[in-house]
This record gives sequence, C-alpha cells and structure tokens, in this order.
Amino acid sequence: MSKEYNIAVVPGDGTGPEVVAEGIKVLDSVAKKCNFSIKYKNFSIGGEHYKATGETLTDEVKASLRETDAIFLGAIGHPDVKPGILEKGVLLNLRFDFDQYINLRPVKLYDGVDTPLKGKKPEDIDFVVVRENTEGLYVGAGGTLKYGTPDEVAVQESINTRKGVERCILYAFEYCRKRNMGKKLTLCGKTNVLTYAFDLWERAFYDVSKDYPDIQTDYAHVDAICMWMVKNPEWFDVIVTDNMFGDIITDLGAMIQGGMGIAAGGNINPNGVSMFEPIGGSAPKYTGKQVINPIAAIMAGQLMLETLGEQTASDIIEKAVQKVLKEDIKDVGAGKMGYTTSEVGDLVVDFIDKE
Ligand code: IPM
Ligand code: MN
Repeated sequence: MSKEYNIAVVPGDGTGPEVVAEGIKVLDSVAKKCNFSIKYKNFSIGGEHYKATGETLTDEVKASLRETDAIFLGAIGHPDVKPGILEKGVLLNLRFDFDQYINLRPVKLYDGVDTPLKGKKPEDIDFVVVRENTEGLYVGAGGTLKYGTPDEVAVQESINTRKGVERCILYAFEYCRKRNMGKKLTLCGKTNVLTYAFDLWERAFYDVSKDYPDIQTDYAHVDAICMWMVKNPEWFDVIVTDNMFGDIITDLGAMIQGGMGIAAGGNINPNGVSMFEPIGGSAPKYTGKQVINPIAAIMAGQLMLETLGEQTASDIIEKAVQKVLKEDIKDVGAGKMGYTTSEVGDLVVDFIDKE
C-alpha cells in the first residue's frame, strides 16, 4: 500500500486561504506522481476565529494537531486584532509547544526573478538560514515595573540554554553536510556586545564543529551579516543564529531572493510535528483578489515534503516552480504576475503532470 500522510491545514487569515489552496493543488498532483497520498484536515485558527470565539488555540485543537504528520499554514494576522495576541497565541504557541526548535529559511534566487542587488545572479544567492525557534528574546521573559509612569522600567531577557543552542547548531551542521554545497557554516551572533549569550553560542558552535571536520566554520556579527548579505551573498552556504537575529536577517533574505511572494519557511521539530508556511503575512488589502503570488506557499509545501522524506516529490515541485518563474510569470510581485493566484498554481501543476 502506498504511504498516506495526514496533514493539518490552517488556511488562516487574509490571503492565506487563497495561497494554501494552490499549495494543496500542487501537493496533490505531485503525490499522485510519486505514489503517496495526502489526507487533509482543516483547522479554523487565526484572526477571524479569534474575533468570533475569543479563542486562539485550544488544548483540544492542539491535541488534534499533534496527531498529524505536519501542519501546512497560510497566514495568521488580522487588522482588527491587537498586535501580539495572534502572534503569541497561535504562532509562537505552536512553535514552543510543539518544540519546533528549528526555523529553516532557504534564501535562493531563482532564474527569472529580479533581485534588488545589482549584478547578483542566481548562482550568487543560494543559502539557508537555520534560526533557533524556541528561545532567545522570544520566550517572553521579563516584565515591567511602574507601568505607564515616568519611572517605568521594562526588562526583556534573552534566554539561551546550552541544550537549546546545541541542538540547533547540531541541526545546522547536519543540514550543511547534507546540502553538500559550500560546506560552510556561519555562526551569526554579536559576541562583541552580547557577551553572555553569544559566548555560549560560540563555545557550543566550536565544540560541535569538532565532529564535522568536513564543514568549514565561520563567524560574523549580525550587523556585518546584514552588510555581507547585500554586498557578497555568495559567501554564505548555511547560517545559524538565534531567534531574534534569525527573524531579522530572514526578512532581508526574503527581499534579496525576490520578495515575500517567493520565500517559504519550516518550523521544524525533527522528532515531532513540524509546521510549514509562506513567510509573508496575511496581506488583508489583497484578500480575495487573486493577486498574491502562491509560489511561497507552494515552496512551503516543497519544504514540507522534503522534511517528511519525500525528496523526489520535493525536487519535482522545485523544478516546476523554477520553470514557472523563468518562463511564465512576468513578475513575482502581487498583481504583477500576469496571471491570477490560481492560474499560477495551475501552471505549476501542468508542468508536474507532464513530467
Ligand atoms: C516570522 C514572523 C514572526 C516572528 C512574528 C509574526 C511573531 O515575523 O515568522 O518571522 O517574529 O517570528
Ligand atoms: Mn519575521
């Protein structure tokens, strides 16, 4: 019997449902081709659901999500919901509770896609950021004193555990070895100022590196990384970093690879349930207009299949996307593709069906 995957689908808010629909279309076509099947279960989570019920994520929903092989997410975010509620209540809640300790974000410029970096070509922009996804400034440690008074104090601490840092670094070394490109792992930190946190990171990095003599190690401060990502992106193969720096540099990464219409990421628990998403937000003003590029969602599906071990299927999706980006769509930006969201999904599926 062929393999069957149980995938939780969280279309979410805004344009999330539109792009998720295209992702599913593509997943189904490649599954057929590669002899496995996917069963989807839809979950109503996000801003609309919160507005209607006051709930972000119930224990019951989490228990159902735990039964699945992976989560495929569109976008979470609603203009009427105060910032922080959905981010903490849904996204971070899932990342932390499901111990998705890796946020994997490939930065790859495909042929036919414009980069704002003058003179840079696809061979120059092809690296992956491994972002720690459960610790650092994101844990919400700290507090306020004398709130709202002139004497107000706000403390927000970055929590870094040896275990948490080490497992992330270990994943990055393994990923770098498996990727088999430049075989170079760069630690992105700030050892000159954050002398506690990144001292721990640095020691863990060089300790773990002893088991990877085939991987070249490199270190750069986060500010310098931003500079090099613009000036010499070809220097990077895999970058490993903490939660906050990873958040920041991957938005820069998304821009140099052509924008939010392309960038996808995986929130990965190598021993549990992982979650895959286009990096862009819910883009409320475009909702229902069929102008958003579904490639990021399709590539989130590609990353999901790769993580589930369906390498052939994942390669087929990438090849199809490469073809569509190079030969079909005019521009990757919203409303500039020359096709609707759903037509772009069809183009990818057409290529896969003919493969
Ligand atoms: C991301 C987002 C989230 C983050 C927000 C929405 C909490 O920016 O996935 O990068 O900061 O991690
Ligand atoms: Mn971000």
